Amino acid sequence: MYHPGKLFFALCGLLCSTNAWNNGLQKTPAMGFNTWNRFHCDINETLIRETALQMKELGFLDAGYTFINIDDCWLTKTRDANGLLVTDPVKFPTGLKNLTDFLHGLGFQAGIYEDLGSETCAGFAGSLNHELTDARLFVDLGFDYAKIDNCNSAGFNGTNPERFQRWTDALTQVQQETGKMLFYSLVEWQSFDAWTWGPALANSWRIYDDIQSDWGRITAILNNASFIGSFSSFWGHNDLDMLENGNGALTLAEQRSHFTAWALAKSPLLVGTDVSQLSQDSLDIMLNPEIIAINQDVGIGEPLTPFFWGKNPDGTWDPTFPAQYWSGFFEDQQHTAIMYINFNDQTVDLNFSFSHSPHLQASKSYAVRDLWKHEDIGAFSDFFFDASIPTHDVRAYIFTEQV
Ligand SMILES: *[C@@H]1O[C@H](CO)[C@@H](O)[C@H](O)[C@H]1NC(C)=O
Ligand SMILES: *[C@@H]1O[C@H](CO)[C@@H](O)[C@H](O)[C@H]1NC(C)=O
Ligand SMILES: *[C@@H]1O[C@H](CO)[C@@H](O)[C@H](O)[C@H]1NC(C)=O
Ligand SMILES: *[C@@H]1O[C@H](CO)[C@@H](O)[C@H](O)[C@H]1NC(C)=O
Ligand SMILES: *[C@@H]1O[C@H](CO)[C@@H](O)[C@H](O)[C@H]1NC(C)=O
Repeated sequence: MYHPGKLFFALCGLLCSTNAWNNGLQKTPAMGFNTWNRFHCDINETLIRETALQMKELGFLDAGYTFINIDDCWLTKTRDANGLLVTDPVKFPTGLKNLTDFLHGLGFQAGIYEDLGSETCAGFAGSLNHELTDARLFVDLGFDYAKIDNCNSAGFNGTNPERFQRWTDALTQVQQETGKMLFYSLVEWQSFDAWTWGPALANSWRIYDDIQSDWGRITAILNNASFIGSFSSFWGHNDLDMLENGNGALTLAEQRSHFTAWALAKSPLLVGTDVSQLSQDSLDIMLNPEIIAINQDVGIGEPLTPFFWGKNPDGTWDPTFPAQYWSGFFEDQQHTAIMYINFNDQTVDLNFSFSHSPHLQASKSYAVRDLWKHEDIGAFSDFFFDASIPTHDVRAYIFTEQV
């Protein structure tokens, strides 16, 4: 039977192989924390220390959230007499080296932020024409991860990949000098095509405008992500942006869907909330070990991709109602991860035929595990069904082929 999902899968095996910049860091997506979504510029070293202590205490570190990342506003507006970036002495009185030592002492890695342009997005000193100096400084200060954003870079002549290549080159040279390579998180939002050239330059690349704690923004990002999963695999990942779990606005069902979709699209998972205020329900969502296991699968690099759009015809572009049925292998070709999101305004039942998914064999029987109920729910052949999926909620399953 002709099915667009299968055709796409077959062609993609031949045409979609990516040429990843494998710098030896993060075969699977980066996980951790970033200050921006919740705190914007209201950051300081006390916040970072307390966040790290809480992330460890709450179980995030053990669950794999290893990066503690400082976003914009950590620095001053001008460089010093030697051309070096200056850490804001009020926000970080004991300095960033002391802070990265503290983070490493707890078992975390440390991340920092800069922009390609003359100024950062918030108006602090940018890295344009200082890339190598700044990369050296970040290594001297003990960082492991650099997020490089796109602000105020209009003055630089060249294509987007040429501009971001400057940091790839700077990080590569600093590795030759010091032996230390930083994770490179690339944030491009002018041409919205970073997935085509980002894999050759960086460890992850943003695919969309900034996320907001808003269901409509989450569905819009997921709609775009649904068409470009084939560009993401081991060592290089589509970045759907930092998590909004815990930031209000989203219902628990929406938080479950947001987290599951980001994890199974193999996006980096960066907590973006005040962890000291986190509810137990929001915490449990971000710590679900069975969802994290798919994000961090060392056996299969490819993200889940849609095999059936559901309400819309297959292949439909709809930022308010993306593809609903997603599949991908997990660990090996005997295990299949399935995700279904209910974008409808009412509760629905789920029922789909195995023949739709390129990752299931219609002739086989599968034992199915529900990754949110944490239960084995029985064996299925030919088609699968489950009842009563609430509005905006998600289901995720592992199908294990029975021999
Ligand atoms: C540090 O930042 C946090 C979060 O914005 C704020 O609540 C706290 O008052 C700040 N502390 C200091 C010492 O500035
Ligand atoms: C470095 O940080 C520690 C806490 O981790 C603090 O006790 C110490 O005073 C700091 N050192 C300096 C030189 O500020
Ligand atoms: C970009 O190119 C234009 C025209 O060649 C030139 O006037 C300008 O100085 C260049 N800008 C930079 C930042 O190199
Ligand atoms: C979403 O993807 C489409 C098609 O690639 C692109 O034209 C659009 O700019 C993207 N939007 C964003 C915000 O990334
Ligand atoms: C699911 O769909 C199949 C095929 O259309 C049908 O035979 C079956 O009765 C349905 N099951 C449920 C529980 O709706």
